[in-house]
Amino acid sequence: MTNPAMNPVMNSVTSGKLAIDQLHIRLGRGERAFDAVRDISFTVEPGQLVCLLGPSGCGKSTLLGAIAGHLSSAAGSIRLDGDTVNGPHPDRGLVFQHHTLFPWKNVLDNVAFGLKMQGVKRAERNRRAQELLELVGLADFERSYPAQLSGGMQQRVEIARVLINRPKVLLMDEPFGALDAQTRLMMQQLLLQVWSSIRTSIIFITHDIDEALFLADRLFVMSAHPGRIIEELDIDFARPRSHQLVTSADFVALKARCLALLHPQRDMLSLERLSPLGMIHARQLRFAI
Ligand SMILES: Nc1ncnc2c1ncn2[C@@H]1O[C@H](COP(=O)(O)OP(=O)(O)O)[C@@H](O)[C@H]1O
Ligand SMILES: [Mg+2]
Repeated sequence: MTNPAMNPVMNSVTSGKLAIDQLHIRLGRGERAFDAVRDISFTVEPGQLVCLLGPSGCGKSTLLGAIAGHLSSAAGSIRLDGDTVNGPHPDRGLVFQHHTLFPWKNVLDNVAFGLKMQGVKRAERNRRAQELLELVGLADFERSYPAQLSGGMQQRVEIARVLINRPKVLLMDEPFGALDAQTRLMMQQLLLQVWSSIRTSIIFITHDIDEALFLADRLFVMSAHPGRIIEELDIDFARPRSHQLVTSADFVALKARCLALLHPQRDMLSLERLSPLGMIHARQLRFAI
């Protein structure tokens, strides 16, 4: 994986520039129409890993859906390497919280499927699928079926399945949100390793502050509904990163900043304190996310 020219899965870091300008998305119809995201402008440089952090319902998936080309905007533009996005295309690969693998196909055939659709011959598509499976640490599982794999392994296959199309930008919508805490940390590390080999641009959505700060080159914090970008942070921690980073003073300071942005003081005050012995005033019970 050292020579980009020899590696068919490696993108040039000169492609994958995403430019979003004054994007405004409305959802629903007629009287029920509402602004889902508003005045969104940002640029992702080729090969950059950008995290979008925001509370549930603020429009993160809507924004990603628009970048994927599944939703149209009411105003503004999305451009990838200068071309206006106006529909889905394999150069923008999507990974969701739950995999979209075919249960009846084995791991190798699932990963190779995108190439099959392009008419690539079996030997070549298997070779490229095996290369990606090695990259995500699943070389020994190519004959397994999705149901035989753990959740983390399924997501690794999913990532390989999307990367085989050589996307210019990888769009990830809370991809590790359904995994247990340990697996989630492992997957974050794996994603950074994969990304260091295939320097595709990544937009990674999460509502987990630690995850966002651990992964990102740049971090955009969104406001509650309708979503707007309320803060842009450059995350300069050295790479490769290890999870010890999360205990460093700089990390904790950034985390405090993000917490303050996501939970403004007035919201904190409106929440009841929960007693460790149980709720004494059950009528006043409210739920904190
Ligand atoms: N297809 C849809 N039609 C109407 N409202 C929707 C639709 N999809 C999402 N919404 C609403 O749009 C808002 C943003 O949703 P979403 O983008 O899923 O937020 P997030 O991913 O940040 O949790 C939410 O209020 C949600 O209920
Ligand atoms: Mg979402």
